[in-house]
Amino acid sequence: MHEEARADVEAAEDLRALQEVRVKWLGKKGRITQELKGLGALPSDERREAGQRIHAVKEAIEAAIEARRATIHRAELAARLAAERVDVTLPGRSGPAGGLHLLTKVTHHLLDVFAGLGYEVVTGPELETDHYNFGALNFPPEHPARDEQDTFWTRDGRLLRTHTSPMQVRYMETHAPPFKVVVPGKVFRNEAVDATHEAQFHQLEALVVGERITMADLRGAIQEMADALFGEGTRTRLQPTFFPFVEPGAEFAIRWTHPKTGRDEWLELGGCGMVHPNVFAAAGYEGVTGFAFGFGIERLAMVPYGVPDIRWFYQSDLRVLEQFEGAL
Ligand code: PHE
Repeated sequence: MHEEARADVEAAEDLRALQEVRVKWLGKKGRITQELKGLGALPSDERREAGQRIHAVKEAIEAAIEARRATIHRAELAARLAAERVDVTLPGRSGPAGGLHLLTKVTHHLLDVFAGLGYEVVTGPELETDHYNFGALNFPPEHPARDEQDTFWTRDGRLLRTHTSPMQVRYMETHAPPFKVVVPGKVFRNEAVDATHEAQFHQLEALVVGERITMADLRGAIQEMADALFGEGTRTRLQPTFFPFVEPGAEFAIRWTHPKTGRDEWLELGGCGMVHPNVFAAAGYEGVTGFAFGFGIERLAMVPYGVPDIRWFYQSDLRVLEQFEGAL
């Protein structure tokens, strides 16, 4: 092969330079093309041999260019791979992970506590009938107690349940005693919204029915809950009050120590009492006794975690929600 051509090919550093070499030697006006054109001027006895020689050189140059092209291509690929090299040992960049809402965590914690005490967890409908929300719970028709729970009514005479107690009768109608259940869920009241009132909030209801269940069992259940939430030996308090569906009825509170002030205070949680005979009658039960209690979950999250405004729970503001990432 032509030594000069070989030198040109070897000197080409990239595909563009190599293309220039190809034009210089094999292009229309290239040196080899010129030589081939010059064949006609040779005497016919020399033409054949010269033709073969030039073609051989042409093929050798083509092969050299092709080989060089492959080499340049490999080198470029290697350079690109080196430039785009990924360090697989670098720690990954993870996106923001979601988390459970404080109310969800507090609810799960409560359900854990009650599951540990042998309670079954059940849920009921949020859209209720007057019968389950009031009538079967011993609210007499036209009784002012109905008005105490400001109610969202639907046009067809149903309502958004104002408490989780309707599930007491629903559960009894479909199950036989003895049993222990807890009912977590949303409840709705047509409240004037402020820092401590929302039109929608959550309650946890407990219902225990069997033979010879007494007020002492009710006290014991509330005590067990208090011990689990705030530590063994936490004080609890029952004060008489009226709910149509229990007799006797009480409100209950748990004594806890405020972590900031170090002061002991009563945390008023909710209502409780012995299931009223009229409620058992509405469910078709006879010869059993039982107790029920119910309380707002928001309050149990707000006071211990220092959330001053109930509306903050529902505003999806990460500055608020993120503060409870480590809670529970
Ligand atoms: N349902 C009552 C309320 O929402 C609480 C309660 C539950 C009281 C069970 C007694 C027994 O205020």
